[in-house]
Amino acid sequence: MLKTVVVFVCGALIGGLVVWKLPALGQAAVKDQAKTETAKVDLTALNNDVARLKSITPSNSHIMEDVSFHYSNLWFAGQKKNWPLAMFYYNESRNHIRWLLAKSPTTKTPEGEVVNLQGIFDGIDTSSLATLKKSIEDKKIDEFTPAYKLTLESCYACHKSAGRPYLRPMIPTVPPQSIINYSPDASWPS
Ligand code: HEC
Repeated sequence: MLKTVVVFVCGALIGGLVVWKLPALGQAAVKDQAKTETAKVDLTALNNDVARLKSITPSNSHIMEDVSFHYSNLWFAGQKKNWPLAMFYYNESRNHIRWLLAKSPTTKTPEGEVVNLQGIFDGIDTSSLATLKKSIEDKKIDEFTPAYKLTLESCYACHKSAGRPYLRPMIPTVPPQSIINYSPDASWPS
């Protein structure tokens, strides 16, 4: 008798549970399906966004022109011994080379050979660029000038490795801009 009651109660409990939980399970399945469909839609939108972003990302050439601008300014700031301005242009130059690498860690030579730009930069970053940074921190013009030239040789080493030996840099003869004053003693605007 007791056994029958226990079996009956258990049966009722299980039955109740199924009836109580089933709709929830069903709803969960519907939700999952909806999620998958949303994910599908998002993926298409995402692909389009990625394609659009790629199409408007600046070219390597454009990024390098920025490097060229900042690095030329660095020369004139250094020659005027405007060390805070020199540090600004040093950082801009370095960061823009890193921007190139974030976008294109490798490039191809005109012959189609893959070049590891990141590897080349890592070598420069710990040698000539580090020496240049130290000369600015130490505010020493007699160390700055040779370090600036050494880094130009590093720029060229990368250009040669990238199959572009015709991109031979030199010490700039004319400031690339005339709106930022290189002089540390300027008093206007105050
Ligand atoms: C890690 C490699 C690397 C380093 C370091 C590097 N460059 Fe470049 N640079 C390139 C590549 C690659 C190109 C060609 C970009 C393109 O057009 O595809 C280039 C192109 C250029 C150009 C031509 C831009 C144009 O299209 O008019 C200039 C100017 C330039 N670099 C200046 C510099 C200077 C200055 C430095 C050093 C402060 C430097 N680069 C350091 C890889 C490098």
